[in-house]
Amino acid sequence: MLNKWRVLLVVIPGFVTAVSITVDSFQVGHEGAKAIDGNSSTFWHSEYSPTLAALPHSAILDLGSSQLLNGFTYLPRQDGSSNGNIGQHTVELSLDGTTWNLVANTTFVDDESQKETGFANAQARYVRITALTEAGNRGSWSSAAEFGVRVASTSTTNGQWGPVIAFPLVPAAAAVSYSTGNIVTFASYRVNTFSIGASVNGCSGSEKLIRDLGNTYTATYNPATNTVSELNVVNTVHDMFCPGMSIDANGRAVVTGGDNANKTSIYDPVTNAWTIGAVMKIPRGYQASTTLSDGRIFTIGGSWSGGYSGKNGEVYNATANTWSLLSGCLVAPMLTNDAQGIFRQDNHGWLFGWKSGSVFQAGPSKAMNWYGTNGTGSQTAAGTRASDTDSMDGNAVIQREDFYRRRSPSYQDSNATSNVHLITIGTPNTTPTVQTLTSMHYQRAFANAVILPNGKIFITGGQSYAVPFTDTTAILTPELWDPTTQTFTVLPAHAIPRTYHSIALLMQDGRVFTGGGGMCGNCATNHEDAQIYSPAYLFNSDGTAATRPGITSVSPATLAVGGTITVVATSALTSFSLIRYGSATHTVDTDQRRIVLTPATTSGTTYTFVLPSDSGVALPGYWMFFGINSAGVPSIAKTIKITVS
Ligand SMILES: *[C@@H]1O[C@H](CO)[C@@H](O)[C@H](O)[C@H]1NC(C)=O
Ligand SMILES: *[C@@H]1O[C@H](CO)[C@@H](O)[C@H](O)[C@H]1NC(C)=O
Ligand SMILES: *[C@@H]1O[C@H](CO)[C@@H](O)[C@H](O)[C@H]1NC(C)=O
Ligand SMILES: *[C@@H]1O[C@H](CO)[C@@H](O)[C@H](O)[C@H]1NC(C)=O
Ligand SMILES: *[C@@H]1O[C@H](CO)[C@@H](O)[C@H](O)[C@H]1NC(C)=O
Ligand SMILES: *[C@@H]1O[C@H](CO)[C@@H](O)[C@H](O)[C@H]1NC(C)=O
Repeated sequence: MLNKWRVLLVVIPGFVTAVSITVDSFQVGHEGAKAIDGNSSTFWHSEYSPTLAALPHSAILDLGSSQLLNGFTYLPRQDGSSNGNIGQHTVELSLDGTTWNLVANTTFVDDESQKETGFANAQARYVRITALTEAGNRGSWSSAAEFGVRVASTSTTNGQWGPVIAFPLVPAAAAVSYSTGNIVTFASYRVNTFSIGASVNGCSGSEKLIRDLGNTYTATYNPATNTVSELNVVNTVHDMFCPGMSIDANGRAVVTGGDNANKTSIYDPVTNAWTIGAVMKIPRGYQASTTLSDGRIFTIGGSWSGGYSGKNGEVYNATANTWSLLSGCLVAPMLTNDAQGIFRQDNHGWLFGWKSGSVFQAGPSKAMNWYGTNGTGSQTAAGTRASDTDSMDGNAVIQREDFYRRRSPSYQDSNATSNVHLITIGTPNTTPTVQTLTSMHYQRAFANAVILPNGKIFITGGQSYAVPFTDTTAILTPELWDPTTQTFTVLPAHAIPRTYHSIALLMQDGRVFTGGGGMCGNCATNHEDAQIYSPAYLFNSDGTAATRPGITSVSPATLAVGGTITVVATSALTSFSLIRYGSATHTVDTDQRRIVLTPATTSGTTYTFVLPSDSGVALPGYWMFFGINSAGVPSIAKTIKITVS
């Protein structure tokens, strides 16, 4: 098991320990004080000898004085045993130690990673955790290496992080539902580990039987109710871990390959159901995919799973439910020079559907390419990214032109960089222009990039030396790129490291959902949680919530490229954008793209806009429409569907 004996040493901002603790029961040698001594080698354990104390077990932390809190943190015992790992639990707060308010009632996953149960900012001196179950149902014990609480930050100048939201799995992949705004996340056939065959991450016996059935644990976050629901998807018989993913022309997430390397599963947000799509011609894992100007989906690469090499392109027609090989879309020109060979060289392409069915491949290889999807497909070299080298696990974000930042030359065991380039693309098959921009403040691998309604790009997570399943060199400080100044601003730190297998996505309300990291079984670096960032535009200068501009209607709700939309707002708006609904896994989000809209006519607070006429620019599918007022505050998004004709 990876990292089993590594001691977790992560500086978590805002984290404080109690000055004293009272427990309902303890085993001699494992007193309550061992859960607040800051030493992860010692732990509290409820009594088991000579008398076995029954669940529930509780601990009351006294912070010494009242503080503004928004999270309870739990580090399970780190000695290799899982006995006493807390499962279902409640968290209560008190000012006086007598009157208690319930602030959380949730369940921790059964592994040794640090966990957090977040709640809305609340003042308290005492915090009571009550363990209702043992996470593995092994016995009526509870144990803890460390308990702590998080003190809430009150500054909003550069935005603010919300509480940590506990998840029943590692959200390693996710998509935003256009119909609800929910975030649909998924892990693997297990909630926090994976297997791609005995030779890579061995499993045998009953574990192998379970794996071979093919299933995926999913969890859906509902922002309206702040709740997470779970679903083990078994009907598509597809372990979707490490897939390609694209949101199609009808807003459905089309998930390809991964652990079950030739399968396709499709999630429809309207029915909230998963269905089986056609089998790919070439099995793949770690491939990327992108929706095309004609609504089909293109994929290429993916030697992580389903055999090595020769993973040329193919294209999916969702209407016909057919995959067709594109033998002219050669993968060889987009290979990196990875130290681990072909297993890594064709992973995670930065693919962008563009005009006339073309695809621009911006990275991660230093070579860029155009792919054509007509007939049997084509490939045309598009030059290199200035003096850049291979940049596996970097990100690219498109807003008519193509913004890109870099990470490490090889997939793992290599230094990340902070390089940033701006690539401007035009006619397919012509060489784009590449500008080298001012670097980020931090070197990052495995980070995520999210474009905001105002065109700024939020970069979060990652580590400066890329090692999957570790949090060493984790960057907890996000930064924001401003397209006007072309420089980065450092933002408030988040609570939990977001490294390998973390994700980030723009929500309908203009906040950013981040989560995940890990998937290494019973290890200390699984992050079965999420945390939402509210950008500075959501606050007034005194820290109160900014009043959102209201949008009464956007019509029609469905229209073809080149069509005209009419927007009725409740107050004056000064700028407007469309952002396509996103999906993210392994640092890749080929769905998000931003289009700036300029009013064709303005009459009071009614505006009309003409959409781009090219479906390679305004890709078919669902988009969020944002109106922004003179104070820079965006509306909550209204959704429109753009069709090819
Ligand atoms: C932590 O506890 C272990 C076990 O009692 C002990 O050996 C070690 O010295 C302690 N570490 C610190 C920094 O106190
Ligand atoms: C906590 O949630 C469970 C259901 O998940 C429920 O049965 C229980 O009553 C809740 N506890 C409290 C104190 O609200
Ligand atoms: C899909 O892959 C599985 C596992 O390799 C294989 O058994 C099956 O025959 C493949 N299906 C098709 C239609 O190629
Ligand atoms: C997809 O398949 C449908 C049904 O066969 C067909 O009508 C349509 O033309 C195809 N789309 C493309 C872009 O080839
Ligand atoms: C693909 O074919 C269409 C229809 O013939 C054509 O308009 C388009 O230019 C072609 N795309 C490319 C990239 O050659
Ligand atoms: C990564 O950078 C550090 C510090 O600059 C250097 O000591 C180390 O050799 C580098 N490692 C690799 C694999 O390049």
